[in-house]
Amino acid sequence: MLLFLFGKLVLFTTIVHALDNGVGKTPPLGWNSWKTCGEESCGHDICNENEIKSIANAMVDNGMQALGYDYVNLDDCWASKRNSTDQTLTWDSQRFPSGLPTLIDWLHAKGFKFGLYTSAGNQTCSSGNRSYPIPGSKGHYNLDAATFAKWKVDYVKLDWCGDIKKDLAAGKKAHVDFAHAMNVSGRAMFLEVVAGYFFTWDEVPTVANSWRFCTDHHDEWKSTDVQMTCRLDQMAMVSGQPGAWPFMDMLVTGGEGCSPFSKGAHCPGQTDDEYRTAFAMWSIAQSPLIVCSDIRDMTPVMTQTILNKDLVHLHQSTSTPPGKHLAYWSCSELLKCEVWGRRMDDSTWMIILLNRGKKSHNITVDWKVLGLEDDQVVDVYDVWNNSTHLGNRTVSFTSSVPSHGTTVVKIKNYQQVEGENERE
Ligand code: GLA
Repeated sequence: MLLFLFGKLVLFTTIVHALDNGVGKTPPLGWNSWKTCGEESCGHDICNENEIKSIANAMVDNGMQALGYDYVNLDDCWASKRNSTDQTLTWDSQRFPSGLPTLIDWLHAKGFKFGLYTSAGNQTCSSGNRSYPIPGSKGHYNLDAATFAKWKVDYVKLDWCGDIKKDLAAGKKAHVDFAHAMNVSGRAMFLEVVAGYFFTWDEVPTVANSWRFCTDHHDEWKSTDVQMTCRLDQMAMVSGQPGAWPFMDMLVTGGEGCSPFSKGAHCPGQTDDEYRTAFAMWSIAQSPLIVCSDIRDMTPVMTQTILNKDLVHLHQSTSTPPGKHLAYWSCSELLKCEVWGRRMDDSTWMIILLNRGKKSHNITVDWKVLGLEDDQVVDVYDVWNNSTHLGNRTVSFTSSVPSHGTTVVKIKNYQQVEGENERE
């Protein structure tokens, strides 16, 4: 970590990039405060110090932290006006009366990392029901990065709002400048950028640890479908690698009764099949898994997805490249039946049979798509049902997949694991 030991020296020698910062070696797992409030109403967000503590406590109690979900991130709801004397950002003292540094210390002591939101422009995207605009970081990139470092922030989300939004020509430089400010701040902080589209697929990992190319993910199937299409397009160009992860945006995994705060705006906007599909697809693509529903109230589908060990392992493993779209299966709705897969090691594949159609379809994965011989015998395990052993197969595996749903299976090469294929 030469960079951080000699951060000041680097400032005068070369421009350094977020990718050099040594963080994000695995895609982030965590929680974010944004959509719990519904789109327009941060006043109803989970965004005050007691509620954030209750979220963190719930993540310990419900097993999320033990599975690796260690980021607790505040989105566009925490800041107040700048300090008129030294221009530093300040927190909303009604929401955070003890102060952010105290809350951050509390979270660190609990084993969490902490994320904060800012914007590249002069304002953030939402005033969160307050009567004044919330300042962005424009004109203060070095000061804000240094302030975040001083508060011991671990993750920064950089949005693209305020006056700069109209100035598309400024996009690239603003991001490079902000990444540079982060790198010379003296603290290794993960950088997520919302407007990754200012860069080409090979440039963006040099300025950010994760990036979005697409619109916000909302709690509706159409939006989940758009995110998957967007990722599918990017797959041909860029897949995640340690330190740099394409982001499909936050996961709104909810379900009936999810949030007493949602006022109906947040969840359940999708069916359980749709929530399962999002979770599986985000995992195989190794998009950061940042959940923004109220995890203090875990519905059955939240438990089945968020706490799914096989999916978290699929998401976190870096020993092979991320999964990808392997084939379309011919079904009666054109290009709606897909096979995705990831080779996990010499003997294991994770396979997703994805039905984006309006009707239920039988979808098949052929061994030849996986590069296996037809006579290869494999064990098949059903990931949505506690990894139940479905038996042995040769040639192919077929499943009836509901509309907007997925079948997720782990397949293990039977011959290679013979004698040791008992499930733990
Ligand atoms: C933008 C971002 C969202 C969220 C809001 C907050 O829309 O894309 O993820 O951060 O701003 O205002």
